Amino acid sequence: MADMADVHRPPESFRLRLRRYDPESGDAPYWDEHTIELEPHRSVLEGILQARDRNDGSIGIRCSCRQAICGSCGIRINGEPALACHTHLDAAREAAGADGTIEIEPMGNMPVIKDLIVDMDAVHWKKVRRVTPWLLPSEPAPEREYIVSKESMVDVTQTMACIQCGACVSDCLAMEVDPGFVGPAALAKAYRFVGDPRDEQQRERLLDLAQDPHGLYDCTHCFKCVEACPKDVNPMGQIMRLRRIAGSDQHIVDRNNGERHEAALTTLVRDYGLLHEAELVPRSYGGNSWFGKFHPAAGKELLGLLPTAVSAVFKGKVSVKQALLGHKLAKRDLEAVKGIYEKVESRPERYELNLYVSGVDEEPEPEPRAVASGAASSEEVAS
Ligand code: SF4
Ligand code: SF4
Ligand code: FES
Repeated sequence: MADMADVHRPPESFRLRLRRYDPESGDAPYWDEHTIELEPHRSVLEGILQARDRNDGSIGIRCSCRQAICGSCGIRINGEPALACHTHLDAAREAAGADGTIEIEPMGNMPVIKDLIVDMDAVHWKKVRRVTPWLLPSEPAPEREYIVSKESMVDVTQTMACIQCGACVSDCLAMEVDPGFVGPAALAKAYRFVGDPRDEQQRERLLDLAQDPHGLYDCTHCFKCVEACPKDVNPMGQIMRLRRIAGSDQHIVDRNNGERHEAALTTLVRDYGLLHEAELVPRSYGGNSWFGKFHPAAGKELLGLLPTAVSAVFKGKVSVKQALLGHKLAKRDLEAVKGIYEKVESRPERYELNLYVSGVDEEPEPEPRAVASGAASSEEVAS
C-alpha cells in the first residue's frame, strides 16, 4: 500500500511500450508506445486504462476488481508475470531498462485473444477442470455438517489463497516444453482436495496424477511459479507435497518412473554425499548399481540420454572420470550426511511444515509497569 507521502506526489509522465496483436487481423504482433500522466503510486493497470481512454480505444486489456482479488489482469511487466493492478508505476519504471520505458506484454503459455488478453479457457481453466476441482466427500453425508480440525484447514489454506490469475502458468518452464503438463495452478488446486480430510478420493486423485505422463512428475523444480505467484501459493511446494504423499505415504510406483527417480536421487546423495550421475539412470530404473539389479529399461533410456551426456562433457559441465567413478565427499562429511539421513528416516512419522500461516493466536500480555505512588499512568488516564 502506498504511504501518504506517495499519495501526495504530483503526476509524472510514464512511457508504456505495449505488445499489440490481433490474431484475426492477420498482421504480425508489434510494439506500440504511449505516454501517460499519473501519480507514481498508481498502478500499471491505471496507466494502461488511461492510454486506452485518451489515446487508443482499441487496446485490449482484461480487468475487474482492480484490487488484486479477481485475478483477471495478469500480464507480463518488464518480462515478469504480474497483476497490472498490483504493480505501482514507479516500481515498474525502476525495474525497466535504461530508458525507463515500462514494457507490457500478454502472459505466456496461453494463446493471445487480443493484445494483453489471453485465452485462459484454452489452457488454464482446462487444466484446472482436469484435476476435478471440487470435493468428493464420504457418503452418506453427516446429518448436520462435516467436522474438520483446525490443523487440517490451516494445511490447505495456502492453496485456497489462489486467485486463478494464471501468472504461474505463464512462466512455467515445463509447460513451455510440454504444453500437456497439468501445470502449477491446477496441481496446487489438486492439493487443496488431497489435503482435505473430507475428501474420499485422495488415493484415486494421486494415482491419476502420478500415472499421467503430464502429471505430478513433469515438474522440473524451476521455482518460476513460486516467484510468479502474487498470493504466495507456492505451487511448486504443493506439487512436492503431492509427490511425497503419493510416494512415501501411498507407495504409488508410477509408470513414468518418477517415484523411483526421486528415490534414486535421494539414495545416491545418502551413499555418496553427492550426485553420482552415471548411476542415476540404472538406479532410477530398478537397480542399486551397475552390477546389481540393472533394469533393461535403463539401457534404452541411457542410449536416449547419450547426446545430452556427450554435449555436457564437451561443454565441461561433466567430467567423464567423475561421472563414471562417482565423486564422494570426504569421509567425515559423508558420515555427517548419513547422520542426517538416519535421523530423518528414524522418525516414526513425517512432519509437514506449512510455513504459510505464521504469527501467534494471541498477543502476549504486556509487562506490568511500575507506577509511582500517587501518580496515575498514562494508560490509567486514558481509560
Ligand atoms: S517449479 Fe514446476 S510447476 Fe513450477 S514453474 Fe517450474 S516446472 Fe512449472
Ligand atoms: S497459484 Fe498463484 S500464480 Fe498461480 S494462478 Fe494461483 S494465484 Fe495465480
Ligand atoms: S483487476 Fe482484479 S486482480 Fe487485477
